[in-house]
Amino acid sequence: MADGETTTSLWEEIVDALNAVNGSHAGRRAVHAKGMVCEGTFAASPEAAGLSRAAHLQGDELRAIVRFSNASGNPRTSDANPIAGRGIGVKLQLPDGEAVDMAAVPLPVFMVSTPEDFLEFTRARIPDPDTGEADPQKVIDFITAHPETATALQLGLPKLTPTTSFATSGYNGLHAFGLVSADGETTWGRYSWVPVAGEQYLSDEEREAADRDYLRQELGERLAGGTAEFDLVFTLAAEGDTLTDPTRPWEGKREQVVLGRLTVTGVVDEADAAGGGPLVFDPNNLTDGIVASDDPILAARSPAYSVSIERRMASGG
Ligand code: HEM
Repeated sequence: MADGETTTSLWEEIVDALNAVNGSHAGRRAVHAKGMVCEGTFAASPEAAGLSRAAHLQGDELRAIVRFSNASGNPRTSDANPIAGRGIGVKLQLPDGEAVDMAAVPLPVFMVSTPEDFLEFTRARIPDPDTGEADPQKVIDFITAHPETATALQLGLPKLTPTTSFATSGYNGLHAFGLVSADGETTWGRYSWVPVAGEQYLSDEEREAADRDYLRQELGERLAGGTAEFDLVFTLAAEGDTLTDPTRPWEGKREQVVLGRLTVTGVVDEADAAGGGPLVFDPNNLTDGIVASDDPILAARSPAYSVSIERRMASGG
């Protein structure tokens, strides 16, 4: 079998496993299936242009398309699910007609460091057809064999609990990216979207009383009377920090630079925002002045997303 065939089948297997965990839902994403699309603007800070020559970091106000989502692949998942998790996709429209994409989640580090482990961990969570439940022992076995997953869950679970709003959740890009300046110098870091309103979580009582679609309702109301704002914060890598393993926290204090501010102004229809094609947020869709690290999870995202996109388009998405 040729190398290309082996690689291709891994992405199919990953999306098959995600579908087996969440169900297959025609026209929907394999994960982050429930979401709402918004529009807004992004303006880079004066510091950003010093670090990167990228077109979106020069300070001009750019149009942004933003999709907030629940992490599940089930489009009917409840926003009040205690470990629901969320996501943000941000597409910044560049002056030349191209775009830069970002997609981030509340987890401080990712759960696995390779696509093969992602497949194995996802398969461990596939429900048994007889009971409709996953076998907890399979998940325990995986976590026992992968201490990095145990750490990620320990750090991440408190961040997955429902927030009062999509606008009061933090979202982390998790991978290292390099900002390349006008004179060719590269600064490595990880980015986060930090809510200007602060991170705010529901109490247990509020969560139990919350409507299954409260996040959508809340954001619609918030944007009808105002905006939702996030700072794009870049945490600079220190000597010895891994640039390729998204499961590893960068422990201790790091220099941070605010690269700009995203202002979400209103809800839009996904089909209109997509402009005829599928709306996709691929973190490898970059531009001159920003480079991806050799993180195998980052590399895995484009081909895995492509399988999901092809399937959702083929089934009416
Ligand atoms: C091997 C690792 C991963 C796999 C296999 C994977 C898989 C997927 C797939 C199949 C989709 C749906 C794509 C579509 O139909 O458009 C998706 C969406 C998404 N993923 Fe991942 N993902 C991975 C890692 C990550 C990481 C590390 C993050 C965050 C840093 C992330 C954040 C998101 C977000 C926010 C979305 C929703 C984007 C939207 O609103 O369209 N994923 N992922």
